[in-house]
This record gives sequence, structure tokens and C-alpha cells, in this order.
Amino acid sequence: MSPIHPDFSHATETSVSGADAQGVLAAIEHALFWLVVGNGLGVMLALLLLGPSLNRALGELTYGRWIMVHMNLALYGWCSLPMVAFLFSAYGTDRGITARWAGPVVWSWSAALALGSFSWLSGHSSGKLFLDWSGIARVYFPLAMMALWAVLSLSMIHAPKREAAKTRFLKITGLLLLLAVPVLIFVASSPGIYPAFNPDTGGPTGTSQLESSLVIVAILLLLPYGLTKRKAESYWTVTASWILLATEAVLCAALSRTDISHHLPAQYLSLGSLLLWIPMTPAYYTAFSWHPSACRWRTAFLCWWAALIISGWVLFLPGVLDHFKFTDGLVGHSIAALAGFVTALLIFVMTQLLGDNGSLFNRTWSFYTWNIGVLSYVIIMTIAGWFEGSDPAFTIVPGIARNLLYFLRLLTGLAMLAASADWLRDASRIRRNAAASDSRIKLTTAPALEKTA
Ligand code: HEM
Repeated sequence: MSPIHPDFSHATETSVSGADAQGVLAAIEHALFWLVVGNGLGVMLALLLLGPSLNRALGELTYGRWIMVHMNLALYGWCSLPMVAFLFSAYGTDRGITARWAGPVVWSWSAALALGSFSWLSGHSSGKLFLDWSGIARVYFPLAMMALWAVLSLSMIHAPKREAAKTRFLKITGLLLLLAVPVLIFVASSPGIYPAFNPDTGGPTGTSQLESSLVIVAILLLLPYGLTKRKAESYWTVTASWILLATEAVLCAALSRTDISHHLPAQYLSLGSLLLWIPMTPAYYTAFSWHPSACRWRTAFLCWWAALIISGWVLFLPGVLDHFKFTDGLVGHSIAALAGFVTALLIFVMTQLLGDNGSLFNRTWSFYTWNIGVLSYVIIMTIAGWFEGSDPAFTIVPGIARNLLYFLRLLTGLAMLAASADWLRDASRIRRNAAASDSRIKLTTAPALEKTA
């Protein structure tokens, strides 16, 4: 394993590594910090499920409290902060007068997560998975998001005047969409509002699954514009992808928004339209230039994306969903989505942002340890979910098969924890070196500035 020697002189046109990227580097470091904390808690939860009597030693802070912390830190820490880094880079926050505000924005985001963790551990909950903001944390987290929005707006106002009209238009549209997010989080966290549900499972309908998947497709199509440039040749796949997204949005708008079962053909057939993205997404991404260090994770996220679309659709089919709903099989699917696809996508984005320093994510051992760890977790949980679907007591009553599967899950968690700790260590080193070179620049330029004054 060769150590990383950060060298910011090689930063490419599309990357933002170095002393002028403190905000991006801070957001990446905080994201990885929450990933390691979340994974550490995941390992603890896996142990608690393997030996439920261990809960007694924890007093009030048993599995039920920690699982909320684990899920929320995974979603609002690890899965969100790399997008903050992306926004800093896309809006040029690390340049000019906004540079000094990027760090405090990242810290206030992390403070909101710490406050949230305290509230979940104290037993407060909105009762809604993935929208678990209540009390003071429900106000503070949207405020942290508003602080980010304000800094991005300021960065746009101070952007160079020669900026292309198309770029400016995209930035303004982005800001308008981002403004809605804190408001939506606050409103949707209310226990008084509930979306339509599938009366046969109690879970989401096909319409809402399609809606949220199309939001992800839109993000996938927009991301390259904030990260890199189009190749000189023209690719028909770019226009075709946007037309396909618009067609699917019309299809989705035409579907019923009431409580509706997955047994209706219109529900599972329309969800099946997502299968078209398996060939379209790689074809779309080929039209853009990517940094060589982003190559490995681009392949990884495209593979996870294809696997997720196929497995998600099969899981929703009548008969299959009835067997798997609310079993470990669904836990496996959640992990495939977040620890597999979303994680690979976020690391791909970060490698592109970091340029040559993105090699911190490219060590062969950590790349395979993470991806094989997640894949094994998904397979183990699918097997456990299959047994649980036939016998609901399977995962509750300790037995040899159950304990063996849960022990193997614990091993996959340890593998994921090790890979993420390695990434955090190197990201911290890169951020510290960039900070040191930043203060060197300030020290050498300060006397010159004094003279001019
Ligand atoms: C990027 C990393 C991770 C993400 C995004 C993540 C996300 C999640 C999510 C969304 C759930 C809820 C699943 C559901 O109820 O449908 C969950 C549950 C869980 N996760 Fe993680 N997780 C990660 C890493 C880990 C690790 C490293 C472990 C260690 C083994 C772990 C162990 C668990 C356990 C034990 C549960 C509870 C399962 C149950 O209630 O039966 N997670 N995780």
C-alpha cells in the first residue's frame, strides 16, 4: 500500500484540489467522518442483533435509539455532504469573498447532525423513516441548509462577469430548486402529513417509487454539467436521455396518486420503464470528459445502478413484494441503494472534484473491500429475507442459520468500516496539507500587500 503524497500542482481544469479548495476539502472530510461514525454504529447494531442480550448493558440507549442515529447519519451526513462539496465547486464558493464562509457552513451542517443525534438518542422522533426531524433539530437543520443556500447565492453574485449565459441560467435554476429543499424537509417531517401508500403492504406505491427514482435520474443527468465539460464530438445519447426523462415524467404525472396496490399492472409496468436507464446512463456519461482517477468509481456506480434498477423492479412485482415486504430482504435493498449505488456515485463525484488527489479512493484493497463487503451484505440479507418471508420468527428467534447469517453480516460491516477509515485518514491529510499551503501563501503575500498599501 503506497502512501499518498498530495501534490496540488497537478490539479486539472476540472478539479479543485489545493489551497483554493478549503470548503470542498472540508465538506469531503466531514462526509467521510460521518461515514466512519455511521459504519461504526452499524457494526454495533449488527452485534446487538447477533446477541440481543447485549442491549441490557446499554440502559435506555438500546437498538431502537441507535438505529435512527445510524440511518440519519448515513443519509444526512454521508450521503449529503459530498453534494455540499459539489455545490461549493459548481458555484465557485472557494474563490473570493465567500471562501471564508464555506468552512462555517460545513461545521453548522455537522452541528445539526450532532443535535439531531442527541434528539434521537433522547427518544424524540417524528415517526417517519428518513424524515426524522423533530423539536429544535427540525428547525436547526433547515436553517443550516439555508446558510448553505445563502453562501451559494453570494458566490453566484460575485462570480466572474464573463461567465456564459447558459452557466448563469443553470446556476439560478439550481438555486431556485435548492431553496425549496429546507422548506420541504421541515413540512414533510410533520407526523400530520403522510403520502399515499400501498394497501397490500403498507409501503410506498409504484407511483411514488417512480417519482423518487426520476428525481435521481434528473440528478444523474445534471451532475456532469457541474463537474466537467462535454467532449468535442456530438452524442445523440445526451438529447435522447433528456427526451426519455421528459416522457417518463409525463407518464408518472398520468398515474394515480391515491393509495394503490402493486398488483395493478399500471403500477409495476410503469416502474419497469426505469429499465431503459440501464443502457442510457453509461451512454450519457460517455459524452463527457472525466478525470482518469474517476474511472474506477464511474464503472462501480454504473454497475450498482443497473443492479439496483433490476433488483428494485423485481422486488416490486406481485408475489415477490408480498414475500419480501418488511423482511431483511428490504434491508438488503436499502443497503444496495445507499451503501452501493449512492456511495459509489458520491465517491465518483469526489474523485472528479479532487483530480489527482482522488487517487485516495482508488487503492485496490479499499475499493474491493468496500464493494465486495456491500455486495456480500446484500446477498446475506436477501437470503435472510427469503427465510423470514416464509417464517417471520426466523430473524427474531436465535438459531444456527440466523446467527451464521448475522455473523457474516458483522464481518462485512467490519470490512466496510476499515475501508472508510482509510479514506478518512487520507482525506484529513490532504485537507491539512492544503490548509498549510494556504497559510504559506498568505504569509508570503502579506508583506507584499502591506508594501502596496
Ligand atoms: C454507507 C454505509 C451505510 C449506509 C448508507 C447504511 C444505511 C442503512 C439503512 C438505510 C438502514 C435501514 C434499512 C431498512 O430498514 O430498510 C440500515 C440498517 C442497518 N444497517 Fe446500515 N448502512 C451503512 C453501513 C452499515 C454497516 C457498515 C453496517 C455493519 C454491519 C450496517 C448495519 C446495519 C444494521 C445492523 C441495520 C439494521 C438492520 C435491521 O434492523 O435488521 N450498516 N443501514
